[in-house]
Amino acid sequence: MIFVTRIEHFNAAHKLWNDRWTPEMNKEVFGKCSNPNFHGHNYELHVTVKGEPNPDTGFVMNAKTLGDLIKTKIVEVVDHCNLNMDVPFLFGKFTSAENLAIGIWNELKDEIELQHCTLHCVKLIETRSIYVEYYG
Ligand code: NI
Repeated sequence: MIFVTRIEHFNAAHKLWNDRWTPEMNKEVFGKCSNPNFHGHNYELHVTVKGEPNPDTGFVMNAKTLGDLIKTKIVEVVDHCNLNMDVPFLFGKFTSAENLAIGIWNELKDEIELQHCTLHCVKLIETRSIYVEYYG
């Protein structure tokens, strides 16, 4: 079994806000992410697939195919968008890095299996000091 990771970037705005809480509580829990007029992050996305090298190519999955898939299904949907308002797979959810990573996993999983390999991990770096990983 070998693992292949493709890295892509996107920039997006979001707001974390719980309507059941006071503004003060939202600010205390969510910090800058509770800014009423939204704020942005420069996200770095690592998508790792696994499988055995194809005898005809030596590839687990063609890296360009994987890159094109991530661009089409994820980057073109989220880049320079408002995650709270513009992204169908996040409608009704808190736009945390956790939920974003789960949504990205769900968007990519079946498409990657069509390429005869398996999605292993979605790693989403939100800031220089925070990242999340989802393994399904
Ligand atoms: Ni934020």
